[in-house]
Amino acid sequence: LNEPNHPRLQKYVHDYTKAWSARVAAADAFVFVLPEYNFAPPPAFVNAIDYLYVEWHYKAAGFVTYGGISAGTRSFLGARQMASTVKMVPLTEAVHIPFVAQQVSDGVFAANASQDKAAAVMLAELLRWTGALSALRLPKP
Ligand SMILES: Cc1cc2nc3c(=O)[nH]c(=O)nc-3n(C[C@H](O)[C@H](O)[C@H](O)COP(=O)(O)O)c2cc1C
Repeated sequence: LNEPNHPRLQKYVHDYTKAWSARVAAADAFVFVLPEYNFAPPPAFVNAIDYLYVEWHYKAAGFVTYGGISAGTRSFLGARQMASTVKMVPLTEAVHIPFVAQQVSDGVFAANASQDKAAAVMLAELLRWTGALSALRLPKP
């Protein structure tokens, strides 16, 4: 993070921050796909969140996590805490993939049936929350 002003002021000086701001502001909801490093979300996620503030507000967030035996569940818990701090609504429903390398062949990931089902449940919940939060995303009068 190398913006000189606090993100809540939205006084961005770097073009890449302005582009990131516009992209996040245009979205109504998010699905984050995260690995787990040392029981935590990856630094790239932390940095991407930290650059902005208002643009995240009142938007639902679903998570797909992966890793070793933990399936990224500790990354998920850390990411949820950050997401709620910037006023996203992190969903409980998520997709967690253990030993992800076992499901990758020639660089292509193949989900199993329970992961497909979990994704459908998560996306349905994301849609519900996105609708429910739409009033809060309206510009303040
Ligand atoms: C430095 C490092 C730390 C890791 N820590 C964890 C961990 O705490 N829990 C876990 O389940 N997997 C851990 N892993 C395994 C990664 O989650 C796994 O290799 C994953 O595929 C990495 O995602 P990437 O290939 O998108 O970088 C770690 C891997 C590395 C390189």
